[in-house]
Amino acid sequence: MANTQELTLIDIAERYRHIRPVPRMPNFAAWIEGVDLTQPLTEPVQAELRQALNDFEVIFFRPQSITPAQHVALAKVFGPISGGSYFERKPGAPELEMIVFDRDRPPSIDNWHTDISWKANPPLGTAIQITVTPPAGGNTCWSSTSKAYDGLSPGMQAYLEGLSAVHTWEVSAFREALGRRGDDALIAAIKAFKPVIHPVVRINPGSGRKCLFVNADFTRHIVGIDRHEARSMLNFLLDWMKKPEFMVHHQWEAGGLAVWDNRSTQHYALADYWPHQRVNQRVTFDEPGAPAATVNVNQQVMHGDKP
Ligand SMILES: [Fe+2]
Repeated sequence: MANTQELTLIDIAERYRHIRPVPRMPNFAAWIEGVDLTQPLTEPVQAELRQALNDFEVIFFRPQSITPAQHVALAKVFGPISGGSYFERKPGAPELEMIVFDRDRPPSIDNWHTDISWKANPPLGTAIQITVTPPAGGNTCWSSTSKAYDGLSPGMQAYLEGLSAVHTWEVSAFREALGRRGDDALIAAIKAFKPVIHPVVRINPGSGRKCLFVNADFTRHIVGIDRHEARSMLNFLLDWMKKPEFMVHHQWEAGGLAVWDNRSTQHYALADYWPHQRVNQRVTFDEPGAPAATVNVNQQVMHGDKP
């Protein structure tokens, strides 16, 4: 049998007056129509954009030619700009991270992950614009971890709500990259960035939805249960979250934008276009009022690697 839960759709006409969300999946992944990002965003528009991110978890804008300041202004609608991370910065616009893949830098973010889940306070989300697209490929997938939770049986939901999991960069490609720089870099990172524990089921405070919070890149193991059960359960959840029903598969047009909620989604950047170029410029933002999500020490240690 398949999931037979009755679907209740968000009432867009009732809820939105200033923007027009157009969902691409049921209650998930919406185009946002009617917003000109080259103009100042009024407070009612900003409020509805925040509502849309809570409602749809990842939102998309058609290609627009925006300045770095307008890109930063979009991110600030959702939260304060994150203080630091690991990518190159755009000259003259230090809030903008540049992720450029080409012949010399093959794409490498083809892993399902939640950004920086190995920190105690991962970022709330990210606003990205793909400014250069390859001639084909280079899509991004997002999976709704709230839909993945909702789709589980009640017994499984109850079981998971008592569990926690260890998250650490050490199980990701970070470790290999740091190892190539020598023992000192690796040891410095091990000292600076200890593993953290997150509940397997978290509530997104923006939407109130329960979300699965484990990911393939950074979750090492579930704690408190036999390690064989823990391994099988983690593998099941990672597999479950890849159901197409929970996922949107986004094809970019140059200049298109997306904003995602890092608390209730995972993402995966397809690596199918080498040696062509793809340029991603992005601004990451934190939970309002939360301690800084990103790292302000030892940036050099992790600099250049992907979160
Ligand atoms: Fe990411």
